Amino acid sequence: MKARALLVERRRGEETRRALVAANALRTDLAIRHEDGRLAFPLRPEVVVPAAWGDVDVRDFTLRETSAPTEFRDLLGWPEAELQLVPRSFDVVGEVVLVRLPAELEARRFEVGEALLRFVPGSRLVGLDRGVHGPERRREVERIAGSGPWSTRHRENGLAFDVDLERAYFSPRLALEHARVASEVRVGERVYDLCCGVGPFALTIARDGRAASIVAVDANPAAVELMRRTLARYPFGSRVTVREARVEEFVTSAPPVDRVVLNLPHEGIKYAALVAPLVSPGGCLDYYEVVPREEIARRATVVESTLSALGAWSVRGIRVVHPYSPSRDLIAVTAARREG
Ligand SMILES: C[S@@+](CC[C@H](N)C(=O)[O-])C[C@H]1O[C@@H](n2cnc3c(N)ncnc32)[C@H](O)[C@@H]1O
Repeated sequence: MKARALLVERRRGEETRRALVAANALRTDLAIRHEDGRLAFPLRPEVVVPAAWGDVDVRDFTLRETSAPTEFRDLLGWPEAELQLVPRSFDVVGEVVLVRLPAELEARRFEVGEALLRFVPGSRLVGLDRGVHGPERRREVERIAGSGPWSTRHRENGLAFDVDLERAYFSPRLALEHARVASEVRVGERVYDLCCGVGPFALTIARDGRAASIVAVDANPAAVELMRRTLARYPFGSRVTVREARVEEFVTSAPPVDRVVLNLPHEGIKYAALVAPLVSPGGCLDYYEVVPREEIARRATVVESTLSALGAWSVRGIRVVHPYSPSRDLIAVTAARREG
């Protein structure tokens, strides 16, 4: 059966598979093809993947054999009524698997954990994800299977990040965004990565090599420490200047630059307005927010009128990154500050 295919070198196979699963971009009814030194991943029809991930072409795929379990739920052996409550999706961060469960399955969480540990190749620890909390957006996790620490090394976009799921924010669901924003940086841009966490935007931009300077800022000392460890492992890590600071302090003394990336979605437009003066005329602001689904269509107008007190702005694009709750989405907004 013909389908669109993402072609990647074999050594990036596992990392790419996980990123495609996290982005809900991989067709699971078709088998991945092995070609000379490359793998061809079958893509869902509407999916757009960043050029940096590999070439997209059309391939003939075979249907997957159904004898092996295609979902971890198949390993539980529960009656259908209970299986209906088990989520299909989970996240993989390095060797750690994270899953969210409805309250009705709380008592059976350890069975779910064991099933995931068996199902996900290379996993050593499964955590029940109780969401991110507090100003530092730390994740509350409970071990439900496996062993070892919450620190691990996660690969995305060809880079390996030091991560500690209890001490600093990280989400594998942003891999596409980290690559997309990095791919839009033009030669010679000066960039701020605000609320940088363990540094995935900053390091991806540094690796791509077009930015003239990158300053990465976060208030959580643990995030800064993890980022420094990751940067030290790459020759291009020295292109990133790290600052442990609150954005509120940073804006008072930092000069304007060509691009500001701001990823603090629960503050959304409020912090976007705070950091907008750091964007020079002709530059742009990439920021994230969580908004009710029905408000997305008119969000560009809201953003433009909020930022208009701070210069002439136009929204260049808004894209849905992923659903955040049953009624809200995480969106990425790119706003350009016009010259003059
Ligand atoms: C959603 S995480 C984003 C992490 C990162 N940009 C990424 O893509 O993985 C938000 C980060 O903002 C940091 N943070 C929250 N409030 C802050 C503030 N007022 N100033 C600086 N950093 C802040 C948190 O410590 C956390 O690492």
